[in-house]
Amino acid sequence: MTSPAIDYDREKRLAAIAAVAEVQQDMIVGLGTGSTVAFALDALAERCRSGLKIRTVATSLRTEALLRQSSMEILDFSKLSTVDLCIDGIDEIDGACHAIKGAGGAMLREKIVASAAMRMIAIADSRKAVDRLGSAPVPVETLPFALGYVTSRILQLGGRPVLRQTALHEPYRTDQGNAVLDCSFDRIDAPDVLAATISAIAGVLGHGLFVDEIDALYIARGTVVEKRER
Ligand code: A5P
Repeated sequence: MTSPAIDYDREKRLAAIAAVAEVQQDMIVGLGTGSTVAFALDALAERCRSGLKIRTVATSLRTEALLRQSSMEILDFSKLSTVDLCIDGIDEIDGACHAIKGAGGAMLREKIVASAAMRMIAIADSRKAVDRLGSAPVPVETLPFALGYVTSRILQLGGRPVLRQTALHEPYRTDQGNAVLDCSFDRIDAPDVLAATISAIAGVLGHGLFVDEIDALYIARGTVVEKRER
């Protein structure tokens, strides 16, 4: 007998709705990127139709387009120093709220907005919880000019860097026009040390290892949403 398939989209939606319940009137809300955040945008749009007034910051062109479709006010983040709340998806998260992000390539702006947020909430379906980070690769946003050098440094650190490509096998470029090296480390025992080491490589503009940005997690398992504070 096979067990019923888990509805991961329902888990994403439930986690997203729980996070959006934290949004309050007149907040500036930073919004991440990805399929889980798309559910948060739906929930936010519904609350706005019921009278909630917020302003938003988009972490990617993709999220900006979705916010425009929902007629939400979008602020120019370059003129801000903080946002009240940030809501974003993750690729992996451990028990201490260390996470890997960036499968969608938006990790540089996502980390900036998460760092600027008074409170950063991660939202996830049940597949994203891990005991130890490392099953997912760490995306490293790299200046194209520095690709050879950064690749060699990642190899020295014991990582296996793979240059991200588009579905058409062309070089992938972030919203800022940079390349991404997806770096597998198998198991990451000290995320804070690895994060600082990668950040210090010349030519690295950002990466998807989040060590202290995430304040809380809403993760759904079936129909139950668990809340974890860091
Ligand atoms: C975008 O670059 C990523 O950081 C996403 O937030 C992350 O990959 C989660 O995406 P999903 O919600 O689509 O799984």
